[in-house]
Amino acid sequence: MTNTDKNIYILAIESSCDDTSAAVLLNKKKLSNVIATQKIHEAFGGVVPELASRAHQQNIVPAVHQALAKANIDKKLVSAIAFTRGPGLMGSLLVGTSFAKSMALGLNVPLIEVNHMQAHILSHFIEEEEMEAPSFPFIALTISGGHTQIVLVKDYFDMEVLGETLDDAVGEAYDKSAKILGLPYPGGPLVDKYAQLGNPKAFPFPKPKVEGYNFSFSGLKTSILYFIQRETKKNPHFIEENLNDICASIQYTIVGILMHKLEKAVQQLGIKQVAIGGGVSANSAIRKALKEREKTLGWKTYIPKFEYCTDNAAMIGIVGYLKYLDGDFTNQGTVAKARYKITD
Ligand code: KG4
Ligand code: ZN
Repeated sequence: MTNTDKNIYILAIESSCDDTSAAVLLNKKKLSNVIATQKIHEAFGGVVPELASRAHQQNIVPAVHQALAKANIDKKLVSAIAFTRGPGLMGSLLVGTSFAKSMALGLNVPLIEVNHMQAHILSHFIEEEEMEAPSFPFIALTISGGHTQIVLVKDYFDMEVLGETLDDAVGEAYDKSAKILGLPYPGGPLVDKYAQLGNPKAFPFPKPKVEGYNFSFSGLKTSILYFIQRETKKNPHFIEENLNDICASIQYTIVGILMHKLEKAVQQLGIKQVAIGGGVSANSAIRKALKEREKTLGWKTYIPKFEYCTDNAAMIGIVGYLKYLDGDFTNQGTVAKARYKITD
């Protein structure tokens, strides 16, 4: 098999946080998407940056080997290497960046730098049977352990951040609330699981008043902490006796905050296409709330396959492909960028 102009193979690397991932795309289609999730952080109740970079160092070569093997292509067919330049943890980014630079040099192929946040949004353009790509313009809500943003997407590389969190990301709000309840890290999926069995209106928590499209979640975490301290003083078994209702109430509050801002954006911009991305997109209540708004408000919503919601290299690969078509390449002088705006 030879490489023709129509067959663009992108090898993509993602190492911005605690997942080491390598993927191969043939044009817009994913051939492989290997994700090595670092379990080591569970014992610490959160991502430990120093441990994350060490684990990336161990995982990256096997992940790339596996990605090429699963895609069933020889590395000589690779048209370009795409990598996450930022934003993320500096030590983690350095591993992927250095690896990508060396491999591009070794294979003598172009190097493409990718903004991780753009990639979460553009993951919708990976060609998959069960997925439909939104048309421009659309509103994107990116929600994960590291980010919470509402973005107006006018074109692939023409995005405007309408609002973002002023403190904790929504995933952090989930994980920190879970920690208060004594649940293991990352607690988001567990809060979601118990929430589905509880009464969302059992315990009302205050919603923050934040200007425009911005978010704030740190106040919620504090009010949950005080509430739990107060109640466990009265009844030491309060958490275990009410876990489902507490989780449902937390979930109801968080999803309410997100939907309020999203509805405001849809109304004010007159754009009814809404796409979500990031690990928290797995949340059952968020998915349900979006589907409800399709029925009641005429929205068209886009939710990527779960594999593309959490940090993964396939989303880096699709951006790599789109940039390849534009001839938007970088060079060996590129450096990792821990703070990297979507508009940079
Ligand atoms: O995108 P991601 O894998 O990593 C980054 O943070 O970039 O997102 C992980 C976050 C964690 O905070 C995790 O608790 C949260 O996503 N999460 C969830 C659910 N699944 C994952 N939060 C709420 N409900 C879920 N079902
Ligand atoms: Zn992410």
